[in-house]
Amino acid sequence: MVKDKVFVITGTRKGIGKSLSEYYLDKGNIVIGCSRGEGSINHKNYTHYTLDVSDEKAVVNMIRDVRKKFGRIDILLNNAGIASMNHIITTPYKTVDNIFKTNFYGTFLFTREVAKVMMKHKKGRIVNFATVATPLRLEGEAIYASSKAAIENFTEIMARELADFGITVNAVGPTPVPTDLIKNVPEEKINALLERQAIRRFGTFEDVVNVIDFFIDDKSDFITGQIVYLGGVVK
Ligand SMILES: NC(=O)c1ccc[n+]([C@@H]2O[C@H](COP(=O)([O-])OP(=O)(O)OC[C@H]3O[C@@H](n4cnc5c(N)ncnc54)[C@H](OP(=O)(O)O)[C@@H]3O)[C@@H](O)[C@H]2O)c1
Repeated sequence: MVKDKVFVITGTRKGIGKSLSEYYLDKGNIVIGCSRGEGSINHKNYTHYTLDVSDEKAVVNMIRDVRKKFGRIDILLNNAGIASMNHIITTPYKTVDNIFKTNFYGTFLFTREVAKVMMKHKKGRIVNFATVATPLRLEGEAIYASSKAAIENFTEIMARELADFGITVNAVGPTPVPTDLIKNVPEEKINALLERQAIRRFGTFEDVVNVIDFFIDDKSDFITGQIVYLGGVVK
């Protein structure tokens, strides 16, 4: 069981990021979270930074501050993410900009800054967030799926670049999990997606955390560069 570790988790105001924070806090860890909105977790071992994950200066300052206060970071969960469903013909440039900034640039910035802290201790675990929308080539999700495809490739290359420093980098690819992220996706679209899974049901927070627990386990030091999709979806 993971205990007494220092976690940095992005996107902790609501959804999966909030549940992950509460889960690891309950197990006796320290969690440092962030989101654009004010923090929503009240726990003695939780610290919140209000920032946008694509704001380079804010991220650099946050991680510098975390290093000063806690001395180390054991685990980074790059959870913050946004989605948008649209046909390419009607997709505004601004949507693409927002999605890539949050999903890809955010993951890049936190990985770069946190890896510098982890390198000093020759140990670390980074878990990124992919999606089954990428391997399923979901129509209407071209931009979201592409931003996560970039995260997959980034994960695979980071696994190589950071291996010599004892840092593993993996990704979990959830199926639909009922959160605000998918609340505007039409029901028939969700049902059609579930039909393409080997196991045809919604994902749960427990399904996601199960994969993360495996990746961040001390014993998983030989597991890196892997993308694990839920629900039996394959690339
Ligand atoms: N739910 C699903 O069906 C599903 C499926 C596959 C993959 N995923 C992935 O799982 C992750 C979590 O999704 P979720 O369902 O929990 O989404 P969610 O309920 O919409 O929560 C997203 C979280 O990220 C934060 N956030 C969004 N943009 C941000 C930014 N630019 N800077 C900082 N924080 C930001 C939000 O807080 P603020 O609004 O306060 O910033 C919120 O805490 C995402 O990477 C998503 O792509 C989800």
